[in-house]
Amino acid sequence: MNFLIINIKELVQVEDKPHAWVAGSQMSKVKTIKDAFLYVEGGRIIDFGPMKKLGEKGDRYQIMCKSIIDASGRMVFPCFCDSHTHLVYAGSREKEFVDKIKGLTYEEIAQRGGGILNSAKLMNLTSEDDLYEQSAERLKEIIRMGTGAVEIKSGYGLDTDNELKMLRVIKRLKENFDIRIMATFLGAHSIPMEFRENPDEYVDIIINEMIPLVAAEELADFVDVFCDKGFFTPDQTARILMAGMKHGLRGKIHANELAPSGGIQTGISYNALSVDHIEYTGDEEIAALLESDTMPTVLPGAAFFLNMPLAPVRKMIEAGLPVAMASDYNPGSSPSGNMKLIMSMACINYKMLPEEALNAVTINSAYAMGLSDYYGSICPGKFANIFITKPIPTVDFFSYSFGSDLIDTVYLNGKEQKF
Ligand code: NIG
Ligand code: FE
Repeated sequence: MNFLIINIKELVQVEDKPHAWVAGSQMSKVKTIKDAFLYVEGGRIIDFGPMKKLGEKGDRYQIMCKSIIDASGRMVFPCFCDSHTHLVYAGSREKEFVDKIKGLTYEEIAQRGGGILNSAKLMNLTSEDDLYEQSAERLKEIIRMGTGAVEIKSGYGLDTDNELKMLRVIKRLKENFDIRIMATFLGAHSIPMEFRENPDEYVDIIINEMIPLVAAEELADFVDVFCDKGFFTPDQTARILMAGMKHGLRGKIHANELAPSGGIQTGISYNALSVDHIEYTGDEEIAALLESDTMPTVLPGAAFFLNMPLAPVRKMIEAGLPVAMASDYNPGSSPSGNMKLIMSMACINYKMLPEEALNAVTINSAYAMGLSDYYGSICPGKFANIFITKPIPTVDFFSYSFGSDLIDTVYLNGKEQKF
């Protein structure tokens, strides 16, 4: 777990002191060091700087190390932080993909009992062990693609037993992998068919039965609600966020994906850590976000996959807001956890500069899961969750070459990941 990387072509996203997040015009600033070294001890970043300053301490580091890695021609980045995923799910939903190509909307599919409810049916038929195996493969896949910290939600159970099953699988993943995992309870992902006439009854079950059990077993860090047209109302969301807070679960909610649903303001009122999707963000929402500690989080994969309107990211950054980006890896609206591709989408679709995209998928998305003190940049004391690239000419090339796998080796807690 101790190693020294030398001759790094460019060490990207370095900080001397950790920032909680970067906002507004600061988002276009990324500090790098050319021809650099990086020293890792006990799984943490200890020292870095230009090669010419390695000098005598280089000898000391070499004695402490098992290995010295020569990264000539290659760059080192902090791993991605993916603050919004649903990667624990059963099966897949490519049939709905085809239905959408033929003209059905995401909402129409949901109304017919497809969508999230379809995944809930599959969840019910899948054993905990099988769910673990399917999810572990997805986790390995995102680690290979450079993700070093990830939030994973429940939300395909929609009854107490199946929600707990999902959260227990997330707990097992935490125990068995080096990637940092944060767990979110999302019982309020959709209204089950049997409660369609009386959704408040389902909300009562979430509040009185599910949240206390989740908290008692310490299965979640956060609570989420899909606050949107056709799903949960701002009032129902407020009740669930309040119940979560009573049990130490901070909100991180789905808001304003399908309509200007009031979700952003509701999340902010209850001090949510993040509001996510937020395609429908107007001047009022921006003003409210500016007064808050809530991270606006955009999910470019879902907007791309569903052909949705895009969140007004440029307007948000120009107003001085921070923006985080995450994959939303899930079977219905974003069946990919490729954060490098998210960076390219940030640039191509949202007109973000590559530096803004990098801040969105590292430090800001670390904040959006409460981890920016430990992950999301190359900073002394942070966990050594980093990757070495293949040979690349410039930092911008990384976002520009949207389809290429440019990640060579991934280290989590200073350990090389081999799958
Ligand atoms: O974040 N918007 C709500 N939930 C998920 C989609 C889940 C699904 O369709 O399975 C999302 O996009
Ligand atoms: Fe989501």
